[in-house]
Formats: sequence, structure tokens, C-alpha cells
Amino acid sequence: MVLVMQELPLMCLMLLLLCRDPGVSAQVGQSFSLQQPEGKVSVAVGETLTLNCTTSGLTAPGPVKWLKGWGSGNKTIYDQRIKDPRVTRAVDVSNTDFTIHIRNVQPEDTGTYYCVKFVKTYSGVDELFQHGSGTEVSVQAKPSPPVVSGPEQRARPEQPVLFTCTTGGFFPNTITVKWFKDRNPLTAPLPKVIKWGVNTYNMSSTVMVTLQKDDVRSQLICEVQHPTLQDPLQGRYQLSRALRVPPSVKVHAEPSPVEVNKTVTFTCLVKEFYPASVSVSWLENGIGIQGKNVFQPSELPGGLFQLRSQVEVQATEERNGSTITCVVVHDAQGPANNSAFLWIFNPGQAGLSKGFQMDKGANPLSSLLLLCLGILLEKGLLGGLLLFLFRRMKG
Ligand SMILES: *[C@@H]1O[C@H](CO)[C@@H](O)[C@H](O)[C@H]1NC(C)=O
Ligand SMILES: *[C@@H]1O[C@H](CO)[C@@H](O)[C@H](O)[C@H]1NC(C)=O
Ligand SMILES: *[C@@H]1O[C@H](CO)[C@@H](O)[C@H](O)[C@H]1NC(C)=O
Repeated sequence: MVLVMQELPLMCLMLLLLCRDPGVSAQVGQSFSLQQPEGKVSVAVGETLTLNCTTSGLTAPGPVKWLKGWGSGNKTIYDQRIKDPRVTRAVDVSNTDFTIHIRNVQPEDTGTYYCVKFVKTYSGVDELFQHGSGTEVSVQAKPSPPVVSGPEQRARPEQPVLFTCTTGGFFPNTITVKWFKDRNPLTAPLPKVIKWGVNTYNMSSTVMVTLQKDDVRSQLICEVQHPTLQDPLQGRYQLSRALRVPPSVKVHAEPSPVEVNKTVTFTCLVKEFYPASVSVSWLENGIGIQGKNVFQPSELPGGLFQLRSQVEVQATEERNGSTITCVVVHDAQGPANNSAFLWIFNPGQAGLSKGFQMDKGANPLSSLLLLCLGILLEKGLLGGLLLFLFRRMKG
């Protein structure tokens, strides 16, 4: 009776254990427990993950393993017999500390890990005995450097253009994007975040920008912030890559009008264009003529270019009223042109050309000459008249 009384608690314990785990045989130890302290662990890609597990109390022989996942999808991560170079025990030969390290963690390692005590059955099969409550591992991945892409074709000023910023391979999916044009913030719709690969996300954000003539030196900045980053990442785009500023074309003649048989220079001023690729040709009444001085485009302070081209024309009488045209082809676009007329005067035909010259006020020297001539003529006539009167009085 005394014996029974003494053994009762032990029997109760055994019964309890048997009820809890019916598969476990009578050889179990007493008050065995397994501690898996962390419920959640977060680790960055490439780093080492530590999963803690300790046991106490006595138990029947059988291994402690680490499983990833539970149920049908589980995978054995650690087992004494498995040789995975990434997985090592923290304390190599301990019978109570089953903490493991997993090196070079990848997004695929995301999941819930269980520390599990097995016992060997009579038939030599490992049978689940006790397990920890699981450690949820999330692998934090940094986003890749953001890349900004622009339109395939250059756009003119005032034309709205779409730009896209992309980054990927990050976890978790909480990411924010800010756009700037130089230092000025731009408003953009919320970015699109999509799942990509195993436990990582990709992001794409678009922004509409209306280009300006003076945007050659401006840049777009896409700034990405993510929990894994101390400082935001930036992607940059030089707006000159997307911009085409067509030139203004203006022709003028010097001198104009020009004295017959003299040389007149036509200058074509090609102003404020981008990019620098430009070709200039000349036409006289629609027929090609050879230019004389073709200067290289010069860069203006704002980053736009300008260029001068000149052609010299002999002012023969037949050419009077000719049209001289400067044709500019900029960056493989349709040609732009501007024209000036060739006006000729003939100082020999004084009467004819006098009014013309005076009107234009183009040649002050010859006007002065004519004035003197007029005065002389006037003086001469007066002198003649006086002489005539004098002679008559004498007579
Ligand atoms: C793990 O998977 C195997 C095979 O699918 C299965 O027999 C076993 O019961 C699973 N173990 C756990 C703890 O879910
Ligand atoms: C201009 O040159 C042509 C040909 O050389 C000549 O015949 C003509 O007389 C010249 N005219 C003047 C106004 O000098
Ligand atoms: C050239 O043409 C203008 C306008 O038609 C005329 O006024 C001028 O006299 C002409 N010059 C010559 C030299 O014929």
C-alpha cells in the first residue's frame, strides 16, 4: 500500500505524458522541456541567422532537429546527419543547447523554424516528441540602386514626358519614393510594388515632367527609402538626355543694300538649340550655293548651343531681289529656314537710286556727297544767274 502510494505520482506523470503523446513509449524521462525563446527574428540578406533552442530534463534517446515549416511542406534544416556547410551548431557537442547558425541568409530562408525533439521508437524510427513554438524568420533585403529611365525619343519644351524609376529585390514591401527636379519636389502617383521572386518585391514609380528650354543642365532624382537603409538611395537622370530644343534661324545681309558689283555677306544665326548636332546649307533662289564660314556650335551658359554660318555673294545687277535662304537641319528633324533679299543700288544711276538710298538711310557717306552736289549745283546756278544779270547790266 505504501509502495503504491509512493509510486502514484510517477505513474500519474507517465500517464500524463502518454496521453499527450500517445506515440511515445514508456521510456520517457521526467519533466523534459524544450525552449525556443524567440517568436520572431529579422535578419538582413547575407548575414548570419541565429536560432536559439535549449532543452532541459531527461528524455529518451533521440535527436533534436530543426525543421522549417510544419506539416506537409516542412524541410529539415538541421540534423546531426545532414552536412550543410551553411548550418552550424553554436555549441558543437552540447546535449542541451541546440542553437544553430545559418550563414549567408537569402530571401528564400524566410519562414517559420521549429526546434523538434524526436525519440527513437523500438523500430528505430524517429518519432516527434516535443517541439518549440516556432521562430518566424523574415529576411530583410535592401532595394537595388534605383534606375531612372526616360522617353525613347527626345521631347520638345512644353511637352509632358513620362519618367520611370525602378528598384527591386527588397523585403519587406514597405518602400517610399520621392521625386525631385534638381531640388524641387515633384508630385507622383503612388509607386507600384509587386512581388518578385521568393520573398522579395520590385517597385516602379512614374512621374510626368513638362520639359523646359532651360532644362539642359537639370536632373531628375528618384529617392528611395526602405527600412533596411540608413540613407535613401538615389537614381539620377540628366534631362538633357530627353530634351530637344529646336533652333531659331535668322538671316541678315551686310551691307544692305549693297553697291553694284560689291560683295555682300549673309549671316545665318542659329540660336538656342540642343543637342549640338546641326547642319547648315545655303540656297540662292532655291538653288544650293557654297557657304563660306561655317563656325562650330558654341555653348551658351545655360547649356544650349548657337552657331553662325556665312555666305558671300557678288552683287551683280541681275541678282537684285534674289532670295538667299539658310536651311538648318537640327538633330535629324525636319529642316527650318529663314531668308533675306539681296538689294542692290547703282551709285551711277544717281536719280534712280537717290530716293532709295535716302529712304533707307543706309549709306550716310553717299547721302552727304549728294547733298554737297546739290549745294554745289545750287551755288553754280545762282552764280550763273548773277553773272548773266551782271553782263546784261553792263551791256
Ligand atoms: C514533415 O514532412 C514529412 C514528409 O512530408 C511528414 O511525414 C512529417 O510528418 C512532417 N513533419 C512535421 C513535423 O510536420
Ligand atoms: C559690273 O560688272 C560688270 C561685269 O564685270 C560690268 O559689265 C558692269 O559695267 C559693272 N557695273 C558697274 C556699275 O560698275
Ligand atoms: C533693285 O531693286 C529695287 C527694288 O525693286 C530697286 O529699287 C533698285 O533700284 C534696284 N537696283 C538696281 C541697281 O537695279
